[in-house]
Formats: sequence, structure tokens, C-alpha cells
Amino acid sequence: MRLRAPAKLNLYLRVVGKRPDGYHELETLFERIDLADELTFEPEPHGLRLTCDDPALPCDETNLVLQAARLLQRQSGVQQQGACIHLTKRIPVAAGLGGGSSDAAATLLGLNALWQLGWDRARLMELAAQVGSDAPFFLLEGPWAIGRGRGEVLEPVPTAASLLHVVVVPEERLSTREVFEGSGVKGFDLTASRPSRSIVEHALRNGSLGELASGLWNDLEPEAIRRCPVIARIQARVGALTRGGVLMSGSGSAVFGLCRDEVHAQAIATTLRTECPSTWRVEVVRTDSVSTIP
Ligand code: C5P
Repeated sequence: MRLRAPAKLNLYLRVVGKRPDGYHELETLFERIDLADELTFEPEPHGLRLTCDDPALPCDETNLVLQAARLLQRQSGVQQQGACIHLTKRIPVAAGLGGGSSDAAATLLGLNALWQLGWDRARLMELAAQVGSDAPFFLLEGPWAIGRGRGEVLEPVPTAASLLHVVVVPEERLSTREVFEGSGVKGFDLTASRPSRSIVEHALRNGSLGELASGLWNDLEPEAIRRCPVIARIQARVGALTRGGVLMSGSGSAVFGLCRDEVHAQAIATTLRTECPSTWRVEVVRTDSVSTIP
């Protein structure tokens, strides 16, 4: 069995509080995009085995794929069944694109089918939230959702909006935990006025790129830029090329720009590829409307 594990962007991310468990309370707008990893699942009599085409990615217990697989194995009581999982990595890691969480979500879907567990989506989402705050989003049918709580309390946004972006990922990557914690040291200004999330939601429903650009927001940007100043330079350049909408995704370091159409996006990507170091990633991505549910 073969499954796609798509990435995400956050078009709006506000930190609205700090929780006693150390996590931060969020309000975010998720978009699933068509940049995707791929996972294959094969039955194996005993144990769980993970391989990956990227030698830089550990295939040990720190990998969210194995954490999700073990959790499902334990909770469903199918200790006798195993699996051999192979991960083809295309989503840059530690970039704010949700790759690890998406791999974990795809693992739950894949093993639910392979082991014939028959778990419904709500039950899989509960498990996914234990592996990563972003993981439940990847189990939704549609590509758009508002995330609250840690990001795991989801409200699908019923819109047919389909966007094009250019995404730039520098070589420097960031730890989600460190960016959240660093932001917390100086304190989020929870009372400061920010564009309202309803602006981006309204713009999505109306297909207005200008309005959408004015509503883009990410509270984690200042700390991410402090740790990785190149993010600000990328934003300035992408903003100049797109003439507007540009934002960092999640806890960074990926930056994306809003593009009018395919020609516009490809032209900007071509320019950026000539300017950026070859170790960076420059990708044209679209809203991913292909359902991830097998
Ligand atoms: O949930 P996940 O394992 O992806 O989160 C990684 C780290 O990011 C957490 O350990 C926490 O430090 C931070 N985080 C947070 N608030 C969130 C999501 C993540 O503080 N809503």
C-alpha cells in the first residue's frame, strides 16, 4: 500500500495563550499543499521496521512514523502484527511545513488499513494528537481548516479556494519547541491588535488575493527571525517579487509567497532559483485538494 503525506502552510497563526502543560494556545488557518512525502506499507509478521531514502533522517524511535505506529499497535492490541514502512522524503524537515506530523497521520491511515482495524477518522485523530499537534489536520477530508487548542481542535473551512505559492526553504532549519519557548521568554503581546483571522477566511471565500495578503500573520516570526535572520531577507525578496503576500509558515524556516497564477509562480521560482544557494529549496506548490483518506 502506498500513501501520500502532504505538507501544510499556516496563512494565519496567532498565539493566544500559554497553557499549564507548556504548550501554547493557538488560532491558526491551515492549508494542505501538494508538496508530499510518500509512504509504503508492507505486512511483516513481527515488529515494526522503518526505512527512509534520506540518510539524514533518523529511522529510530525519534521518528514520528514509528511513534505513531507503536501507539496504534499498543492501543489496538495488535502486538502480533507488524509492518515494514518505507518513507520517501520530499518535504523539508524542521521547516514549519508539518512533514513529520503528516507522515505520522499517513502512518495511522496506512496501518489502520493494513491491520484491518476499522478505526474511524475521529478515533485516529485522537491518536494523531498524541504524536504531534499538527497531525490531526492531515486526517481531515478537505485542505482548509481553522486550528485551535494546540492546533489539534479543528474546524474545517468549507471553501473551494485553490491557491498557488512559491515556497523558499533556506538551509537553516528551526526547532518548533525552541521557537515557541524563545517567543515566550520575551512574552507574546496577547493584547496587541492583529489582523483578524476573519479577514483571511473572508478573503478565501471571496478569492481576493489582495485581501488575503493583508490578513497574513504569524506571531512566531519575530523569534524565528532572531534565530535565523535570513528569513527576513527571504521575505523581503519574495514580497518584492510577488508584490504583496508573503509569510513564514508555522515555526519556520520556510517562507511562502502568494502568486496570481501558474505563470507568475513559475517565473518567480525561476528567478529565486538563480539567486538562492543550491542548498536551499524553491518550490511552486498548490492547495492540495486530493483527499488523503484511502
Ligand atoms: O506537538 P509537537 O510535538 O509538534 O510540538 C513540538 C513542540 O512545540 C512542543 O513540545 C512545544 O514545545 C511546542 N508547541 C507549543 N504549542 C503548540 C504546539 C507546539 O508550545 N501549540
